[in-house]
Amino acid sequence: MNTPSDSKILRVLRGETIFPPPIWLMRQAGRYLPEYRETRREAGSFLDLCYNPELATEVTMQPIRRFDFDAAILFSDILVIPDALDRDVRFVEGEGPKLRPLEPEEIGRLDPSRAADHLQPVMETVARLRAKLPPEKALIGFCGAPWTVATYMIAGHGTSDQAPARLFAHRHREEFLKLLDLLAEMSADYLLAQMAAGADLVQIFDSWSGVLGPEDFEDFCVKPVAKIVALIRKEIPDAKIIGFPKGATAMLRSYRKKTSIDALGLDWTVPLDLAQSLQKDGAVQGNLDPTLLAAGGAPLDKGIDTILQSLGQGPLIFNLGHGITPQVPPAHVQQLIDRVRGA
Ligand code: CP3
Repeated sequence: MNTPSDSKILRVLRGETIFPPPIWLMRQAGRYLPEYRETRREAGSFLDLCYNPELATEVTMQPIRRFDFDAAILFSDILVIPDALDRDVRFVEGEGPKLRPLEPEEIGRLDPSRAADHLQPVMETVARLRAKLPPEKALIGFCGAPWTVATYMIAGHGTSDQAPARLFAHRHREEFLKLLDLLAEMSADYLLAQMAAGADLVQIFDSWSGVLGPEDFEDFCVKPVAKIVALIRKEIPDAKIIGFPKGATAMLRSYRKKTSIDALGLDWTVPLDLAQSLQKDGAVQGNLDPTLLAAGGAPLDKGIDTILQSLGQGPLIFNLGHGITPQVPPAHVQQLIDRVRGA
């Protein structure tokens, strides 16, 4: 009975309605937890933590021990792919990620041949996690979508509208599409390796899909993610995949259809009547505003109840509409879990 294949999250991904719904939170391991901050200090840099199987396993397990979530998400980062391509990835305290900005003429010279070796410690973490987790807890692997990863590679840092990558794509379209293609192939290999090591499902984070016009959305988000999904399903036909095209509101339905992902991650700006209608095509995940989790109290309870009432009658994985922020009091996460489980 209790094998990972009947974890609640996999059942929802196959289209089953479970109430109360299973729950995990994006960025459930992270700086809002004192035990994370302590392990992070011990590890040295953020990337040292990502590549240390013992400590990465520990920080992945911390929120499971504290809150008994229905899934663990591998502790790593979407920028390990550019790191594997030698783009000089650093995480500067208080400033976010920094990379060596990519020039158009460098794209043809990017060398993915060392990626598998470079990312081997991540697979070791996945294997340790699957061995450690009880069978009813799903283990989620992940990667960034090619567009989102490319925005960091081109700008060399985070921005609010991804203007550097959009400009680059208009000026150097051929090179840019080549970059997306390379990232799609590397991401498929990376996710397949995670599944071979023990991940039960994977999520593709497309955090910046909302800044693109309809045509670019099709070429930069839909096609590369469809390629990742096809490459994965060629090896693992029933692989379960969640897509999270943040900000893609009007494009969500066609995104699911064209990429063949199993579940749509929804951000908090998605109207609940649209979410309900999207749920008729399959599972959805989300979509509580993360600032409600920071607020706690009655506003948090109301936000939770609204989602449960609107989406609880169909296949739902309860989650936030984006990651937990560092200022969230852990007690508010407990309030959320208790409210959802007590529904
Ligand atoms: O969800 C989890 O608990 C798993 C781990 C995870 C991290 N990053 C850990 C992390 C996951 C799934 C990610 C994904 C990720 N990383 C995304 C997609 C999701 C999103 O948030 O939109 C993106 C865009 C990144 C890139 C990234 N990594 C940024 C922009 C930052 C800096 C953010 C900040 O608040 O400083 C990171 C760093 C990062 N990734 C941290 C954690 C816990 C904080 C770093 C630290 O401990 O110092």
